[in-house]
Amino acid sequence: MLSAVERKIEQFISDLNDKEVTALYAKLPHGKRLRAKLILKIAGNTLSVVKTAAIVEMIHAASLLHDDVIDDAYTRRNKPSLNALYGNKTAIMLGDILYSKGFLELNNISPEVAKIVSNAVVQLSLGELKDVSLSKAFHLDKEIYLHMIYQKTASLMEAAAGAAALLAGKDKRAYMTYGRNLGIAFQMIDDILDITMDAQTLGKPALHDFEEGKTTLPYIYLYEAMKEDERVKLQSLHRKKLSDEEAEWIKVKMQEYGIIQKSFLEAKVLVEEAITLMNERGESALSGIAMAMIERDF
Ligand code: FPP
Ligand code: MG
Repeated sequence: MLSAVERKIEQFISDLNDKEVTALYAKLPHGKRLRAKLILKIAGNTLSVVKTAAIVEMIHAASLLHDDVIDDAYTRRNKPSLNALYGNKTAIMLGDILYSKGFLELNNISPEVAKIVSNAVVQLSLGELKDVSLSKAFHLDKEIYLHMIYQKTASLMEAAAGAAALLAGKDKRAYMTYGRNLGIAFQMIDDILDITMDAQTLGKPALHDFEEGKTTLPYIYLYEAMKEDERVKLQSLHRKKLSDEEAEWIKVKMQEYGIIQKSFLEAKVLVEEAITLMNERGESALSGIAMAMIERDF
């Protein structure tokens, strides 16, 4: 029933009665709609559920519009990003419109749902700011990385699952843990793919994170595993445009020290915990979504 969510977003946009916004929204690739999927699988497809899923997807789309400006990213999902096509100002404003219309509509759901979703957007924004400030230096603290990705990515999935559980009268805590684990694992895998995938498959330039200054989990583990001279070299490559040889050196070292496997296993543990929680509740569709996240090639 994802199509009902698409139609609801289109309706929210057309409420705005602005041809430019309608045309710009039409340019945005939809993505996997993972958050909407979770909400529908947890809570069915009543009008409030579909609206909540549409709102969460609009907030998510807004956050990516802003993120691509912040990250100087010119491609998203194998297409030019909106900032690449129309410039930063338009991308930021479309983000603001999606976000504020989403918030306006949130008032029509319930105070509890509004609270859980708006709290997640605060976390999301705090997490993105932390991502930016951490990128200014070579940092190696895994706990800080984990908290940042919880805020930046997992908070909205946690809230999506929690809001859906509230709407369905289900046990909020278990579903929120499911959403949180999935979100953290999702970002860990996104950070791994930045290293393992080629630019074509990734839909954005590879090793972009490190060039942008992001020391994600694989870099933290790689540094820990390396000998002193290698550490010095790795640190010297941080936050700079990498030559083909330098990029290759990083990839080879990641393989040599088994870092991709180690990072992936960490994501897998979280996903397995989420699967167990859902299996205990007979939620096989939700276990399936979690399983699909780890059953891919690295
Ligand atoms: C992607 O991270 C970014 C996020 C998941 C969160 C972005 C949040 C904001 C910009 C805060 C503002 C929020 C609103 C609602 C306007 P990434 O760069 O690691 O992932 P990527 O590879 O998909 O770019
Ligand atoms: Mg980004």
